Amino acid sequence: MATPRTETARRAHIVGWGMAVPERVLSNGDLCAMVDTSDEWIRQRTGIVERHIAGEGETTLSLALRASQAALEVANLDPALLDLVVVATITPDYAFPATACLLQDALGAERAAAFDLSAGCSGFVYALSVAAGMIAAGDYKHCLVVGAETLSRITDWTDRNTCVLFGDGAGAVILEANGAQGGILSSVLGSDGSGKELLIQPAGGSAQPASAETVQARKHTVQMDGRQVFRFATRIMPDVSRRVLSKAGLTVEDVSLVIPHQANDRILQAAARNLGIDEGRVYSNLSRYGNTSSASIPIALCEAIEHGLVKRDAVLLLTGFGAGLTWAATLLRWSLPLPVPTPSRRMTFWRNLRYRWAQLRSHWRRFWRNVDARLFQILYDEEGRRKR
Ligand code: UT7
Repeated sequence: MATPRTETARRAHIVGWGMAVPERVLSNGDLCAMVDTSDEWIRQRTGIVERHIAGEGETTLSLALRASQAALEVANLDPALLDLVVVATITPDYAFPATACLLQDALGAERAAAFDLSAGCSGFVYALSVAAGMIAAGDYKHCLVVGAETLSRITDWTDRNTCVLFGDGAGAVILEANGAQGGILSSVLGSDGSGKELLIQPAGGSAQPASAETVQARKHTVQMDGRQVFRFATRIMPDVSRRVLSKAGLTVEDVSLVIPHQANDRILQAAARNLGIDEGRVYSNLSRYGNTSSASIPIALCEAIEHGLVKRDAVLLLTGFGAGLTWAATLLRWSLPLPVPTPSRRMTFWRNLRYRWAQLRSHWRRFWRNVDARLFQILYDEEGRRKR
């Protein structure tokens, strides 16, 4: 159910944030035992030192859930007040239903619409822009926007060209509509499907349905032309960044911090050089997480906030690129005073109760659906006519 429209100007402001990564850490040293690589090569060519890998039972949903609960805690918001849940991911729990629906159910976000968004590593910025647009249109008041991935599940662990790059994790933000100055200022999104084969999971869709052959040929794993993606990234990041700045009437000098998609430190350095911004204003945490695709920007945002790099009125530039090909940038002015007050224990208790209730409600609904189906069989014939 959508929140009724109000007459006040509505801007989308980030009022909550959270991140989650699996406990298990895979170091460059560990990878050396798996493929023909070296710690030195990985560090020098990518900047990555370690990454987090999902353990048994951990999925994109479980990481998204932890990140979302942390974001709701910061926002001090009852999940039942969420109007929309968007999960940007290329590694959903299932091809369908959407992971966002599973998240909506697990959170007890009873009145929220929910959908997944697939735009590769640009996914989170795409999702942020879509949700901000729905807020600006007056449709929604509170939106949960998540970037979550378990790339380890679609990684070819025998391919040194790709397996050293990726990691698992999730980041989430709560967007709130209010009339305050700042918030999301502008967004630019783009795509070029002619580059589809540069970064692709070839099988599992309608083009190549899953079969013994596709599994044997490892076609359900990430295939990438690293050099071409590298070239594309170094050009598109500065370009889309300039365009989003110009759309908002700002310049590079106005930017307090760039939070880019974390793919390769050399890409970040080249993009900073081309954009004419010093590297000190470009956030990087690649060394600890590797490339977590759509989760990388929200994770970096959370860390930048926690490290005190985001101040009130700071202008943040979020920019990404990825499979599709896609690219995206969003510019926002931080409007929330930091640090945020710790929520009262009563509210935290209430939220935890809500999560428990959500679990029970979900079980009950499934149980009742089965009973209902059984009753229907007893009471109605195959044509849906009441039996006498
Ligand atoms: O989120 C978006 C998705 N992906 C990206 O953004 C990735 C963009 N691309 C990149 O980050 C870089 O292209 C890579 C890190 C993937 C590769 O770095 P590079 O400097 O472009 O290396 P390269 O592909 O040109 O390969 C150079 C050499 C090759 O050997 P030869 O042919 O010169 O003998 C590779 O076989 O490095 C070799 N190589 C490795 N050596 C040790 C490739 N991977 C490895 C490895 N360890 N893991």
